[in-house]
Parts: sequence; structure tokens; C-alpha cells
Amino acid sequence: MPTPVILDCDPGYDDVFAIWLAAAHPSVDLRAITTVAGNGAIEHTALNARIACTVAGVRGVPIARGAAGPLAQELAPADWIHGANALGGVELPDVAMSLDDRDAVALIADVLRTADELVTIAATGPLTNVAHLVQRHPDLLDRIERIVWMGGSTGRGNVSPYAEFNASTDPEAVAIVLGSGVALTMVGLNITHQALITREVRARIRGIDTATARFGADLLERFCSTYDAFGDMPDGPLHDPLTIAMIVDPTVATTVRARVDIELRGEHTRGATAVDLLELTHRPKNATVALELDVDRYWALIESAVAALR
Ligand code: RIB
Ligand code: CA
Repeated sequence: MPTPVILDCDPGYDDVFAIWLAAAHPSVDLRAITTVAGNGAIEHTALNARIACTVAGVRGVPIARGAAGPLAQELAPADWIHGANALGGVELPDVAMSLDDRDAVALIADVLRTADELVTIAATGPLTNVAHLVQRHPDLLDRIERIVWMGGSTGRGNVSPYAEFNASTDPEAVAIVLGSGVALTMVGLNITHQALITREVRARIRGIDTATARFGADLLERFCSTYDAFGDMPDGPLHDPLTIAMIVDPTVATTVRARVDIELRGEHTRGATAVDLLELTHRPKNATVALELDVDRYWALIESAVAALR
């Protein structure tokens, strides 16, 4: 039976591929797409989720607008990577669908309330919407199988020496989700930086004869050029689809149980995820942490999804 999934995202180039993998893979029953401010302002991420669905011919999945900013700080979009509209450098089509009338939290709550089995939440942006769900609907948390979140890192960060962008954008939201008791799988930079968009990957996707692949190949070229310019990483990492890949094929990554805490007060470390892989804190383990990627298996999933869509 396919896994019921809600995808909460901030498209963003890599979020687009997470939407496509979730929509295309037969092991996923994509119940809703919700959007959050992160890579860009909410008006951009809410539009870009609909662009991703329009391009790929994904229809019938409700798409809702969510939080316009973090719980306790100003939004600082990642426009140096994703562009001012959070999907920069490519021609964007008119969208084929409108937003759902409900906001993100109301849509997630309705999906949880009406599902006849537990639902997995894949989160590929800041956890602001998920934190609001925890605060507003504590009665629904037992309807969640687990949260699979692209965020944090067992090592270095990408927006400060120790903080990853999604965690750093809303650390208070991470603390609320960690404290909620909902099962969490953390997919951090330590593993997503193994998912490098090499020249060979770009050529294979460019060679797939679908409109989705052509649009995706343009996104990857742009994403890699900005990563090269800003991060000296010519083969940029395709972070977000790994959340979906881990849902459809748990063997795509190795994992361990570990204690994860979020730094809220450090002058130099706010937003850092403290992942206790050596059990030094003797605190109860509260997360499943992804470590090693089966790179070939990952790209096979991505390329199959792009080929299966329009
Ligand atoms: O740090 C990488 C994460 O931040 C990815 O989810 C990317 O889309 C941005 O949101
Ligand atoms: Ca993202």
C-alpha cells in the first residue's frame, strides 16, 4: 500500500524535485502540498509549488499557503541561491491550479483528521508550519506516522559555521517539533552533500524526453551555477528529494538513532543541530539520523520520477 504523505516545502529548486518524486513514485500517496516561507517569501514559494505541479502535470493534489515567516525572527530568504522569486533564472509558466482555500495548517489538520491510516509528513523547508500544527492541534499528532525533515546537520552548516538553512531560519520551530514526541527522521547536510548534481547526472536528466525533465535540467544548471559561484561547489547538492527517497526506499540511506537538540541561544551557533552520535549527553535518543547515501540508488529514483511525469 502506498504511504500517505503530506509534503511541506519552500520551493526552491530542490523542493521542486521533492514534489516530483512524491507525485510520481507509486509508493507515495501524495495527499497535500503545503508551503512555507524559507527559500523565498510565501507568495513565491506558494506560487512555485503550483509551477512545479503545472509543469509536471500533477493535478488533484491540494496546495495550501502557509507561514509567511519564522516564529521568532525575521525571514532571511536564501535568494543568493534560489533567486529573488525562489526559482530564479528560468522562465516560469502560468499555473494551472489555484491555492486551496485553507491555510497550510488547516489543510494538514484536515488530512490527518480524515485519513484512515497514519500519515507521513515530509518537510523540506523551515518547520514553521509543522510547529504551528503541534501547537494548534496536539490532538492530531498521534495521526502522524513520522516527520521526515531535510534540515540540520551532524557537522557543519551552510548559512553559518554550524547552522543549516532550514534549521537556522526557524530554530524555535525545530525545538517545538523535537519536543512534540512525534517520530522524527533528520536528513541533514551531512548526507545531502553526498547527493551531488554531477555533470553526468545533469546530462542524464537533460537526455530524458519530457517537459518535466527539460524544465528540471534548466533548474539544475542554474542551481549548480549559483552553488559554484557562492559555495565553490560546482556540483550542487540536491537536498530535498532525499526525504521522499527515504520514504519510498529506506535502503537508500543508512541511519542511526541519536539525541538531537537545537541551539537557540548561542552567539555563533544559534540554529545549529547538536547531534549526539557518541551518546556523550546521556540524553534519551529522540531522532533517526540519516548518515550514508546510496548515491546511484538515489539518482535512479530521481531520474525515474522525472521520466514518469509529463
Ligand atoms: O539547507 C538546504 C535546505 O535549505 C533545502 O531545503 C533548500 O531548499 C533550502 O530550503
Ligand atoms: Ca527546501
